Parts: sequence; C-alpha cells; structure tokens
Amino acid sequence: MRIRKGDEGPLDPFLAWMLKRAGLQPAAYRSGAMQRRICACLRKLRVSSPCSARELLERKPELLPSVLNTILIGVSEFFRDPPVFDYLEKTVLPELLQTRPRLRVCSAGVSGGQEIYSMAMLLAEAGALNRCELLGVDCRADAIRRGYAGRFYTEDMDGVAPVRRERFFRPVAGRWEVSAELKKQIQWSRQDLLDLDAGGACDLILFRNVAIYFNNRHGDEAWARLCDQLVPDGFIVTGKAERPPASLPLVRVGPSIYRKIAR
Ligand SMILES: C[S@@+](CC[C@H](N)C(=O)[O-])C[C@H]1O[C@@H](n2cnc3c(N)ncnc32)[C@H](O)[C@@H]1O
Repeated sequence: MRIRKGDEGPLDPFLAWMLKRAGLQPAAYRSGAMQRRICACLRKLRVSSPCSARELLERKPELLPSVLNTILIGVSEFFRDPPVFDYLEKTVLPELLQTRPRLRVCSAGVSGGQEIYSMAMLLAEAGALNRCELLGVDCRADAIRRGYAGRFYTEDMDGVAPVRRERFFRPVAGRWEVSAELKKQIQWSRQDLLDLDAGGACDLILFRNVAIYFNNRHGDEAWARLCDQLVPDGFIVTGKAERPPASLPLVRVGPSIYRKIAR
C-alpha cells in the first residue's frame, strides 16, 4: 500500500518521543494515522494534553507499554482472511512439508498470537507440527506477553471452528487457553521488525497488516529485510491492502501470498 498525502509529514513530537522511549524508530511511521491515535492515548492516561502525558510517562515509565497499545493497535483474528489460510492449508503447506524436512514459520507483527496459533493449528492438523519451528515477533511487550499466555476471550474465538476449539483449546477461568501441544513449538520475541533477526532463514513469513503503519521508505525497508530472511522459494504473506515493492524478487502465487524467486 502506498501512503496518502498528509501521512508524509513529521510525526507529532509527543508520539515521536514515546516511540523512541519504546525503542522504535519514530521516522518510520506514517504521521497521519498515528496522529489520529493521540486522543485515545490521552484518554488512557486521563490527561488533557500531550505535554501532561509526557510528564506523567516520565514519572511513571511503567505506563508506557499500555499506552503504546493505544497507538500501535494490535487488532487480529484467528484465521483472518479465510481464503488466505485456505490457500496456505491446501497449496503452500503441502508443498513445503513435502520438500523440506523442517519448516521455520515467522509471524512478523504477531500481536496477541492469533496468526501464529492459526498456523500452528494447520501444521498440527497436517501431522507436521513437531518438525516445525514457529516464531512470533512484535515490538509491544504486552502483545508478546499475551501471545505467550495464549488465553483468549470467547469473542476472540469466532474464527476457530468448533472441531479446532475442541482439539486445541481448553476453558480456563472464563477464557480459552491454547493447548501445550501448540505452545511448545512457538518462540516469542520482542523486536523491531525494521531490525528483525529471525534467528535463521524462514520458509514462510506472515507480514500482514503491519506495513500499513510505516511510511513508504521504511515500509520498503521492512519488506526488503523480511525478504532477505526468506529461503529461496519461500513464501511471504501480506495483508489484504498490502503488497511488496516491485523491486523485490517476489511473485504473487495466491491471495495475498508471494513467493521468493531466484534472480
Ligand atoms: C494490526 S496488528 C497485525 C496482527 C496480525 N499480523 C494480523 O494481521 O492479524 C499490527 C502489529 O504490528 C506491530 N508493530 C507495529 N510496528 C512494529 C515494529 N516496528 N516492529 C514490530 N512490530 C510492530 C504492532 O504492535 C501490532 O501488534
């Protein structure tokens, strides 16, 4: 996705300060979209101006992670965009599993974990989970903590078919907890995707609904970095409204699914 006019300008100084405190690169983010989140951020801190918000965060830095949640919204769903997961299940995974002894799968911008757990369910159903390493990466500590815990409210479970709920979840204290079978194959890492080190080449990367946060230059850089971490012939999956820069050796092979080709 290319950015709109109004998203190009510099970031509001308070937002820039906050992202920097969170270890992120303010210059990477689209200003317009972020600007619209300031009110939510002030509401969360119960203050009336960015100046008071900064003062409060300087006094109480422990509030930063929850405020970051209001800026970098982590909306996600299990099996989000079903045609994409259908194609992964029926076409991409069978080929990868047939041609490679082990698979590495990364969800870049994993949020609360729905995406990487969806992949883990598909791999378990294919009888291949124990030869797969899965990695969930996000810049928000809260997202990583929630993903690792793997506990979801009933309203988060809409995308999970009853047969999967039965097999991969159990009710715990009013929520649905992911089974140990899935959890044990997944590593979690708090990292900035712009400096991502996936710890080895990946066969499949999900990079969905994250590039929309970045301005053109940094979005392209994030794509290039992820493409570098893909094995030749590996796959990368985008969000519905996203597509990789044309300069990268990626060809579209399915709905929002691209494959790395040799050049
Ligand atoms: C809208 S969610 C997408 C979740 C999931 N990929 C999906 O499509 O359902 C975007 C996620 O990207 C994360 N994010 C934003 N900037 C990031 C960065 N620089 N490094 C790592 N994660 C980032 C946010 O914290 C958020 O959890």
